Amino acid sequence: MTEIAIDSLCKSYGKTPAVCGIDLVIPSGEFVVILGPSGCGKSTLLRMIAGLEDITSGSVAIGGTVVNDVEPGARGCAMVFQNYALYPHMSVAQNIGYAQKIAGVGKREREAAVLRVATVLGLETLLDRKPGQLSGGQRQRVAMGRAMIRSPKIFLFDEPLSNLDAKLRLQMRLEIKRLHRELRTTSVFVTHDQIEAMTLADRLVIMNKGVIEQVGTPDEIFRRPASLFVADFLGTPPMNFLPATIDTAGRPVVSTNTVLGAARRWNLPAGTDVRVGVRPGDIGLAELPSAHALPFELDMIDDLGTETHWHGHAAGSRLSITVTPGARPARSPLAVSIPEGAIHLFRNTDGRRVDPIKSTEFLQATG
Ligand SMILES: Nc1ncnc2c1ncn2[C@@H]1O[C@H](COP(=O)(O)OP(=O)(O)O)[C@@H](O)[C@H]1O
Ligand SMILES: [Mg+2]
Repeated sequence: MTEIAIDSLCKSYGKTPAVCGIDLVIPSGEFVVILGPSGCGKSTLLRMIAGLEDITSGSVAIGGTVVNDVEPGARGCAMVFQNYALYPHMSVAQNIGYAQKIAGVGKREREAAVLRVATVLGLETLLDRKPGQLSGGQRQRVAMGRAMIRSPKIFLFDEPLSNLDAKLRLQMRLEIKRLHRELRTTSVFVTHDQIEAMTLADRLVIMNKGVIEQVGTPDEIFRRPASLFVADFLGTPPMNFLPATIDTAGRPVVSTNTVLGAARRWNLPAGTDVRVGVRPGDIGLAELPSAHALPFELDMIDDLGTETHWHGHAAGSRLSITVTPGARPARSPLAVSIPEGAIHLFRNTDGRRVDPIKSTEFLQATG
């Protein structure tokens, strides 16, 4: 059983911080996905866990022991990269068994181990092939086999599926999920792909510019994003954002003077500038005129077959709505309504989320 505990971890290249003040505990057996845009420090964090990168300050502990000064080979981590880095002149069996050969494991034992791992990965009929004779997905599985044969305490994945086409990515995702269910090895998986992250993670860590923005289950993070950054990063099409100002009753008012979430109260001073976030799928079509509907100007329809999105403008901002698959506008002009429960509210100053309070609390608070 192997827990990873990361404490105030920082890494700077020269004077430039790449990763800053990371605190994270990954319980034994958990599958954690680190998600963030390119350059946010994901690989640097992973490489510090593996020992491939020196730590500037803070600590990494594996299984209760601080490993800052422990050699990569002695940390019990196996890493799978985006480029599979297979030996082209070796067969699948030789690639998978290489680490054991180097470690001096006998031929008979090695062959048994290779067959066991290859069978788990569905590679048992391909053992004699060279990497050049394999598909991208098969190569990636060989790379995984090479990591698995060492029975590592920890799996570290750095965007291992990024080179595969969409269909193979899905297949490998299911494969990795199945493997984790079987092996229960503590795993840290780095990606910039939100679908991969949402589907694989027991727990999701969202990173931005070297710091952690939010940690939680995929569901928690999607339903209650803690910041504008997280809200904007997760979801397709992305969340809509409407600039608004808080009125004296604690409600956001958008540029059309429409009060949103009229029955809710946000405990912010009147005049506070905020951003109202609402997911495209949470927006409904409305009949005009209505005190709480927003006129919607349709610019474009994206019909993906299984889902249909209308892109346009409302209250001076771009707005996308997800409608019934295949739906086309039946009337003009159009209007949309934003259900109160669908409102995510963020302060402009720091981009942090503010949740509504009960109306009764608001009245007491303001006397
Ligand atoms: N060896 C290096 N020397 C200097 N800067 C680096 C080095 N490696 C990464 N960086 C910088 O550190 C930041 C984080 O990089 P990285 O961890 O690779 O991001 P990610 O994996 O999220 O794309 C980036 O700004 C990158 O340019
Ligand atoms: Mg990277």
